[in-house]
Amino acid sequence: MTRNAPAPHFIQTHLSNPAAVRAELEAGLLATPAHVSPKYFYDALGSRLFDAITELPEYYPTRTEAAIFGRHGAEMAAHLPAGALLVDLGAGSCAKAASLFPELQPAGYVAVDISVDYLRDALGQLQQRHPALPMLGLGMDFSTTLQFGDAVGRWLSDHRLHSAPRTVFYPGSSIGNFIPAQAVEVLEPAYDDALGVTAAFNRNLLLNVNRWMGSNFQPVLWRHVAHFNAAESRIEMHLEALQDQTVVWEGGQRRFVAGERMHTENSCKWTPASFETLLEQAGWRDVRRWTDKHGWFGVFAARA
Ligand code: AVI
Repeated sequence: MTRNAPAPHFIQTHLSNPAAVRAELEAGLLATPAHVSPKYFYDALGSRLFDAITELPEYYPTRTEAAIFGRHGAEMAAHLPAGALLVDLGAGSCAKAASLFPELQPAGYVAVDISVDYLRDALGQLQQRHPALPMLGLGMDFSTTLQFGDAVGRWLSDHRLHSAPRTVFYPGSSIGNFIPAQAVEVLEPAYDDALGVTAAFNRNLLLNVNRWMGSNFQPVLWRHVAHFNAAESRIEMHLEALQDQTVVWEGGQRRFVAGERMHTENSCKWTPASFETLLEQAGWRDVRRWTDKHGWFGVFAARA
């Protein structure tokens, strides 16, 4: 590819403390039941598998969300401040935010993601398509902090963006008004597709854990499980041991018996009312909502 625009500025904090990552993983592996945070899905391969998931016929959220942006993007932009700094939390391929650039006309774009190499590539390509838009990549784990630090402050000053209004873009999902029986029919296949892409995405987490821990998980010895927990209104993903096994890493080990599950993800499905309450309890105000025709998915805007 011919590069005309320089690569965007990139600040990486995620990999700077491997001991903390290993300590967090070890605590989860030794817990009963064992668990690993879903943020560990997103190594470079996991990010690509997630992009593949978004193209599956069963996985309705991304498609439905894109349709809402397409239909109501102009109205959303009218509700948001003009010339804002657009901060994209969990940017991934940056495609969702980029699809809104024409409407939002941001003055700058900050893309944040834990999948550092994947973000660096995606942002580099996006900068070629928008050479005049100041872009900053932040390779960080925003589940631990939203303090961006002095280096980001300097970048904002250099680009005269310090006092620009900020629009935080954090896509999320809602299952609208489904009753649980109908919800299960749509939700469980969305997280357990016929091609097995979500199963690969889930099991790839073991390879990422092996890389961090030097452990010896064998993905072939684990089965993907996804089910809707109606009481908690969430899809739960687990990995289930297919046989008794002992997994070892430097300084530790864990015995798993056949049928034992390791919890890897909760994907909460909010109703519009419960999500609005959550926003208001967290101090957000002036809440607006746009949905698709089934009420499967909601896009919300709120002011800090
Ligand atoms: C990234 N996140 C919103 C996805 C979800 O639907 O919870 C991750 C995912 N897990 C399985 N399929 C997709």
